[in-house]
Amino acid sequence: MVIPFSPPRIDDKIIAEVTKALQSGWITTGPRTKLFEKKIAEYCNVTDVLAVNSWTAGAELLLYWYGIKEGDEVIVPVYTYCATANIVRHRGAKVIMVDVTSDFGIDISKIEKHINARTKAVIPVDVGGLPIDYAALNLLLQKQKVKELFVPESENQQKLGRILVLSDAAHSFGAVYQNVKVGSQADFTVFSFHAVKNLTTAEGGAICINLPKPFKNDEIYKQLNTLTLHGQNKDALAKTQKGSWEYDVIDAGFKCNMTDILASIGLVEFDRYENDTLPKRKWVFEKYTEVLKKFEWAITPLYEDEHRITSYHLYLLRIKDISLEQRNSIIQEIFDQDVSVNVHYKPLPLLSYYKSLEYNMDDYPVAKKLWETEISLPVFYDITEEQVIKVIEVVVKSVNKVLQK
Ligand SMILES: Cc1ncc(COP(=O)(O)O)c(C=O)c1O
Repeated sequence: MVIPFSPPRIDDKIIAEVTKALQSGWITTGPRTKLFEKKIAEYCNVTDVLAVNSWTAGAELLLYWYGIKEGDEVIVPVYTYCATANIVRHRGAKVIMVDVTSDFGIDISKIEKHINARTKAVIPVDVGGLPIDYAALNLLLQKQKVKELFVPESENQQKLGRILVLSDAAHSFGAVYQNVKVGSQADFTVFSFHAVKNLTTAEGGAICINLPKPFKNDEIYKQLNTLTLHGQNKDALAKTQKGSWEYDVIDAGFKCNMTDILASIGLVEFDRYENDTLPKRKWVFEKYTEVLKKFEWAITPLYEDEHRITSYHLYLLRIKDISLEQRNSIIQEIFDQDVSVNVHYKPLPLLSYYKSLEYNMDDYPVAKKLWETEISLPVFYDITEEQVIKVIEVVVKSVNKVLQK
């Protein structure tokens, strides 16, 4: 049997909760979604969380809310999934790519030189679940010199008075930064609950709202919530109240609300996340590292240091000094022995669309090296010890075979 890469954990508990939601008479956004939001808010130390139907939709909504438009620039790491950059293009703005450091996070020391009067936001990414250094990024954006460059062009930009930090925390739900869970370090932190993520709702996401004063986060929640429903000032539940049919549309909003069916999956996933899902994923990481670190060719991923603990989302193994061709041959060997692996990520300049916009991979030497030598190993809740051992054996055998050629 092939060992899969990261199947979701769908068991009787999930099926029972989804069935309950289906039978409840309320299947779109309703009480289950609101309860899910409340639980995430408590877990992430923020007052307001808005559930949405994907990371992508939620994050694009935030760029819209901040008034990002054609002519603006948004800084993203070059090493990420396309969604981080695509949402910037959806708003007509320019993607400014910055190289990463060897732990896969954006190189904060390289951001300042890209900041100018057109820069409106930075979207750092917690790749694999390891938080970036939020304190260093916030410090940079608070610098007088950097703030003076900022030219506000919308009411919300005026109010914030600086570059927005929108954290791409698609991978890092449950990760820890300076002793607190990821969620309260940026202006907005957006999680993904896509099927391959640690905590899934099939598709879905959540926005932690954590703007400084004079913003009132509960008011921003209401504004954003309205924007997830076409800018309609009453949601479906409110409209079911007696005589309450009438509504207005106050903006040309989006349509990206989470449904109660999806939230019912999320509620089960949430309740077992901290004490069951995360420890299991940690166990898998530790098993891999315990054995692989003994090999001279292995660069095992960093998943904990004095400020950060990962959410154990992706096990980003690297093979020292191999070429792209060797990496691809190793992957082929691994697949031939019935183990599924992956590569995270093909950097943005290598994707045809971004290549056509004339980004050049040679401008990002660290990302280039990481991508050429990276192989992501399977991590999922139901993986057995036997399977972990098989993955390790197959990886070792495949690397040795290719290195000996
Ligand atoms: C780093 C990163 N950002 C954003 C996304 C997009 O998430 P979603 O599929 O929920 O829109 C993903 C999804 O894989 C991702 O890996």
